[in-house]
Amino acid sequence: MAIQYLALSTLIVLYSLMFVGGYVSAAGLGLTCPEWPLCPNGIMPDEEYLIEWIHRLVAATTGTLVLATAVASWLNKNAGKKIKFTSAFAGVLVVTQITLGAVVIDTMLHAVLVAIHLGVGILLFAMVLLTTLFAFRISKTTITTKT
Ligand code: HEM
Repeated sequence: MAIQYLALSTLIVLYSLMFVGGYVSAAGLGLTCPEWPLCPNGIMPDEEYLIEWIHRLVAATTGTLVLATAVASWLNKNAGKKIKFTSAFAGVLVVTQITLGAVVIDTMLHAVLVAIHLGVGILLFAMVLLTTLFAFRISKTTITTKT
């Protein structure tokens, strides 16, 4: 997949994840699935903790996409320092965020940690957005130099 579409898909999936996270928080569903990394039914969802289960499933998908975008950026011979930095930083943030998600559950939704979870999520979104913009710039430059 071309790097710009990979980055754009990552951005869309991340946006959906933040939307679901906001719902989990506002609806008070944060502790419906009290175990980590899997919910009580293993990998199978259950109506009781479906939303929280979706948050984790989309988080795992987001993590994979963010790391794949970082690898694609580092392997792309037309990539500059900026995209390499934003994509690698996003990679570090996504691993931190997923770990933090586990700690949030473990500490029974400690307010400071939930606030940090939101803050890291926003920073991660900013990095993935910048990566997407840089990726579209790479593809534009490649097309211009070819013609
Ligand atoms: C890339 C990964 C993730 C992102 C971007 C993300 C993002 C978010 C966001 C934006 C919120 C709403 C915060 C608020 O409104 O204050 C949220 C809530 C939450 N997230 Fe995540 N999340 C991620 C991964 C995880 C993981 C792996 C877990 C672990 C199970 C987790 C557990 C939670 C919980 C429990 C809440 C609700 C907190 C509450 O009830 O106030 N998150 N997440």
